[in-house]
Amino acid sequence: MTQAPQKAPYTTNNVGIPVESDEHSLTVGPDGPILLQDHYLIEKMAQFNRERVPERVVHAKGSGAYGFFEVTNDVSQFTKADLFQPGKRTEMLARFSTVAGEQGSPDTWRDPRGFALKFYTEHGNYDMVGNNTPVFFVRDTIKFQDFIRSQKRHPVTGLRSNDMQWDFWTLSPESAHQVTWLMGDRGIPKTYRHMNGYSSHTYMWINGAGERFWVKYHFKTDQGIDFLTQAEADELAGSDADKHRRDLFESIESGNAPTWTLKVQIMPFEDAADYRFNPFDLTKVWPHGDYPLIDVGRMVLNKNPEDYFIHIEQAAFEPSNLVPGIGPSPDKMLLGRLFSYPDTHRYRIGPNYAQLPPNRPHAPVNSYAKDGPMRYVPSNAARPYAPNSYGGPAADYGQFGDPASWETAGELVREATKPHREDDDWGQPGTMVRQVLDDAARDRLVSNVSGHLKADVSRPVLDRAVQYWRNIDKEIGDRIASNVNGG
Ligand code: NDP
Ligand code: HEM
Repeated sequence: MTQAPQKAPYTTNNVGIPVESDEHSLTVGPDGPILLQDHYLIEKMAQFNRERVPERVVHAKGSGAYGFFEVTNDVSQFTKADLFQPGKRTEMLARFSTVAGEQGSPDTWRDPRGFALKFYTEHGNYDMVGNNTPVFFVRDTIKFQDFIRSQKRHPVTGLRSNDMQWDFWTLSPESAHQVTWLMGDRGIPKTYRHMNGYSSHTYMWINGAGERFWVKYHFKTDQGIDFLTQAEADELAGSDADKHRRDLFESIESGNAPTWTLKVQIMPFEDAADYRFNPFDLTKVWPHGDYPLIDVGRMVLNKNPEDYFIHIEQAAFEPSNLVPGIGPSPDKMLLGRLFSYPDTHRYRIGPNYAQLPPNRPHAPVNSYAKDGPMRYVPSNAARPYAPNSYGGPAADYGQFGDPASWETAGELVREATKPHREDDDWGQPGTMVRQVLDDAARDRLVSNVSGHLKADVSRPVLDRAVQYWRNIDKEIGDRIASNVNGG
């Protein structure tokens, strides 16, 4: 916490010149007009007018902290990525967030939570931009923008609208798994410390011998999973809208550093072709019975940012930050995200966002990028072009082994991926409802869905919603029907 210094320093303007007053503008006489030559006043007003960068178009409300990741188990047979090598400890930044709300929205609204991690590895930044759920609402990037607009505010009323949400979900049956998750207990974590994080997507790992594997990450909270009921969350939204931000900051400040254990599921490269579920479909999990969890290491968040805006608001996470030993998979959502994040950062923060403290790699940057607004770290290339004969950087990926790749061929089409044997939209959420939830959790699920549907959802959306739940589980659907239709 900031402590009051013994003797306060004198105030200066932004370039260190002592200012004449903190309290009085320069005027012609005490009641006279303000003068344009009061450049300190002008600087204050102009600076203030430019204090905000646009909020993130999604995940606008968030909190974060620095920490480290340490490897506790040898997984070098699966990846050569330096952060996952035995004994390795890597500095990192984490940001947790809600998705649909704005910067000032309550932490306790029902929503997935973002789980964005940036690891400052020897080979550049590795970002794992996941959520607290292992699945998502849609499986093709082209539907993401529509999905988000259905969750944001109505263009006429400016209100969030359950009708828009259920309209989109019920017309997009692939959402069923994520919606079941969202409406259950994990839809409102007790705090950011009490939730798991998942890569959700499948990624590729490559080992030192060039062998490829498919991988899913599970960051399991060591604080234990805990949640808020709808009633508790509603009360907190009014009494302490920043509950989760406060909890994270105060826990770390009091020395109670939260930790997560990273486990992975590994699928041999060849299994993907005829696995019973499409392993690249973001609406599906890999059942643990098929691919058990393997320990990797521990993430510890032990340092609060010294300035929220600099380190958290200007943090730029991007799924395209993949280091040697880690690559993307053919997941169409992930492939779209590889473009989206750097693009939005150029707009939201500016083209030189990678030079800012939270984004600047701890590894050397030998890039040919130059100039642009707010650039302040010079390029170390003697000539601003490649190739050059003045010892400038030359690409040499060979020393890092094989890059990520997979074989593909075919016509250019706009088609859904061919379903695997057990692919459908209702099976896995049905398994969750019947085999994972207990009676009390099922009761809360029915109550949460019914409450949500009763607020502002019109027919025929309501009828489709009832059928949607009957498709997931007949009994749950019938109970919801009876609640919303009164019998
Ligand atoms: P398992 O019994 O091995 O795993 C069930 C999983 O469900 C556990 O990871 C558990 O997480 C999680 N879980 C427990 N309670 C809830 C809840 N209220 N809301 C959401 N998740 C919860 O079974 P399978 O791996 O065969 O999966 C069965 C179903 O469980 C899947 O269809 C899917 O819906 C769900 N699930 C599966 C996950 C996976 O990666 N395989 C991950 C999470 C959910 P934890 O152990 O962390 O408490
Ligand atoms: C933030 C796009 C899917 C997790 C964002 C942002 C954009 C975006 C534009 C704002 C970034 C910023 O301004 O800094 C997309 C697109 C998606 C997609 C186009 C699908 C095609 C997902 C999925 C996940 C996810 C599937 C999780 C598995 C996050 C997180 C953040 C975020 C955690 C906040 C990052 C932070 O804390 O700064 N997304 N997103 N997104 N997204 Fe996505």
